[in-house]
Amino acid sequence: MNLDLTEEQALIQASARAYAQERIAPRAAQIDADGVIPDEVLSGLAELGLFGVNLPEELGGAEAGVVAYSLAMEEVAKACASTAVTMAVTSMVGEVIAAFARPEVARVYCPKLCSGALRAGSFALSEPEAGSDPGAMRTTAREVDGGWVLDGSKQWITSGDFAGVFVVWARTGGPGTRGISAFLVDADNPGLKVGRHEEKMGLRGSSTTALHLEECRVEADALLGELHGGFKIAMMALDGGRIGIASQALGIGEAALAEAVAYAKERETFGTPIANHQAIQWMIADSRTELDAAALLTRRAATLKQAGGRFSSQAAMAKAYASEAACRVCDRALQIHGGYGYTKEYAVERHYRDVRVTRIYEGTSEIQRIVISRELLR
Ligand code: CAA
Repeated sequence: MNLDLTEEQALIQASARAYAQERIAPRAAQIDADGVIPDEVLSGLAELGLFGVNLPEELGGAEAGVVAYSLAMEEVAKACASTAVTMAVTSMVGEVIAAFARPEVARVYCPKLCSGALRAGSFALSEPEAGSDPGAMRTTAREVDGGWVLDGSKQWITSGDFAGVFVVWARTGGPGTRGISAFLVDADNPGLKVGRHEEKMGLRGSSTTALHLEECRVEADALLGELHGGFKIAMMALDGGRIGIASQALGIGEAALAEAVAYAKERETFGTPIANHQAIQWMIADSRTELDAAALLTRRAATLKQAGGRFSSQAAMAKAYASEAACRVCDRALQIHGGYGYTKEYAVERHYRDVRVTRIYEGTSEIQRIVISRELLR
């Protein structure tokens, strides 16, 4: 695997880093406190092309590939994990539309997602009783003259209250994974209602809501891919999405480690900076090593996806390892800060809360281990 960045990848990384550090990082604590990402933060990401890094140019994207996307995601996550997940889910939705919508439909939605005209995209797969097991979903879509009518409820929907377009999965056939289809639903569809807003421990700037579909009618061309083929679309999208979440976890971990290093050099105990104590040095060394390992796994998965090969298992390894490593890194970073790390005075408190969900969403660590072991055991 070649670890050198191409000129284009380096440029995207640098511009994402500059924008994230100058324009997002200074507002991250406020975004967390207010529970809202300001419009100008999202429109700035769109202007830089960060909502369509891996989308074709003809659909409004940057066509810069998966490695560039992963690097940009890491940079945004270093500054603000809430903004990063909004970018991650919007990018995933853009890729689903580009790959599975009818070409004339993709030409309408993808450029609007990339330009920020739709503000964000939303991925409506999970339900109150079908999270890890989406094959158990209950939302239905029944065929009517010229279209479909969707009924049911969705849960844990990122950007559910402000996204411009939703990919919604619903049952069109019998039970299990083979009777599910995917549909595009506009935010202004009168049958789509935003439900409860979740009060989360972290990622508080990113809204997470329920959705209710009540006689929600869509046209025939809203069907994505093949009828009853929706489960595979979700799995393929999540394979790619997991590279995004691994990158997000990496970014949060990097931010926490940088703060821990700076604090350790400054804070003194027993007459010397705490960086001179071996207990602290070992925590820093372990964190650096684990983040590097996570970065290599993530780069491998991104490189494989970009090359067009199979990458489900590698994406699952990257996501499981990076999220768990980043949780350990944030925990150590907080410990290095001592009591101050437990207060809102230091960003490490936010990183500690934000990072926790990376072990849960887009497939829990336990689900990733199913994906990894199945490939070995089949
Ligand atoms: N790519 C393509 N096809 C795939 C696939 C993949 N990665 N994984 C499975 N499939 C296919 C299988 O080949 C199979 O096809 P056939 O019907 O032709 O045989 C079909 O899909 C069913 O596969 P399984 O029998 O393996 O399905 P399963 O019910 O046992 O589930 C699972 C497998 C991996 C556990 C899956 O259910 C899973 O990933 N669960 C986690 C769901 C998840 O990640 N949810 C996240 C919610 S979205 C979110 O968090 C976004 C956000 O807003 C932040």
